[in-house]
Amino acid sequence: MCHDCTALDGTPAAAGASRRSFARFLAAGAGLTVLAACTPDAPAQVAPSSSSPSAVPTATSASPVTVTASESPTAAVGPAAQAPVPPSPAAALPRQFSLTDPASPWLVVNKHRPLVPADYVPADLMQPNVPLTVSGEAALLNSTTAAAAEAMFAAAAQDGVSITLASGYRSYSTQVATYNGYVAARGQADADTASARPGYSEHQTGWSFDIGDGGGACGFQPCFADQPAAVWAKANGHRFGFIVRYPWMFHPITGYYYEPWHLRYIGVEAATDMASRGISTLEEYFGVEAAPGYP
Ligand code: DAL
Ligand code: ZN
Repeated sequence: MCHDCTALDGTPAAAGASRRSFARFLAAGAGLTVLAACTPDAPAQVAPSSSSPSAVPTATSASPVTVTASESPTAAVGPAAQAPVPPSPAAALPRQFSLTDPASPWLVVNKHRPLVPADYVPADLMQPNVPLTVSGEAALLNSTTAAAAEAMFAAAAQDGVSITLASGYRSYSTQVATYNGYVAARGQADADTASARPGYSEHQTGWSFDIGDGGGACGFQPCFADQPAAVWAKANGHRFGFIVRYPWMFHPITGYYYEPWHLRYIGVEAATDMASRGISTLEEYFGVEAAPGYP
């Protein structure tokens, strides 16, 4: 999951300015640790392309999100500006796993649900055998997610689709540096639409990672949604237990703008159930409250 260096208003000029300011922040001494961890999760809530209807919630997505006329794909509206939308309890499966234990595949962590303990570290971090574009802790996942990622990446490769692991585990201390970097570059309000505060990131659990395609220009950009890696992952991820955790236009529920690169492991049964029922967010699926902003 990560972090985006593009502008929230999605205009090329502003996006460029934002990227430049963030690059200046990095160059100013944040260091390679932050650079490696701050794989830019693009928060710009703009359509990946004007011809990308798949990026817009569809009639079958069972979304309670009301998309108003002013909420066009190019009109970025911060989560804080949205009225919270109460998810409707939708889980069909029996409650098999904890929603609060960070070691549980059904953990729901969001702006209302911090990790406990805040400095949680998975006990079984390992590096999956998949194509990597990162090293160090960012190349790690918990063992369950690593195994699922290996199977998914292999299946994608068999379909001729190149997927890379672009950012995996992120420790609490790394998230401190990452989030502070966003705040310094963009201000806290904008930072909060793209980067989780320390103790609130799925990346700290080992259950999530960001994907790339090994070098395309759309890495961590809105246009990544239209790239084969993202299209394939969105269509097939559930077969391996993954969901796209921050879908297009669901920021009033998730608290974050669209991140087509950020995948979250919840298990094949639950991910397939969500997909088949057209449920887009964990908040809706498990019937927990929407978390558009921090309390
Ligand atoms: N970009 C996601 C929300 C994170 O920082 O965990
Ligand atoms: Zn991410």
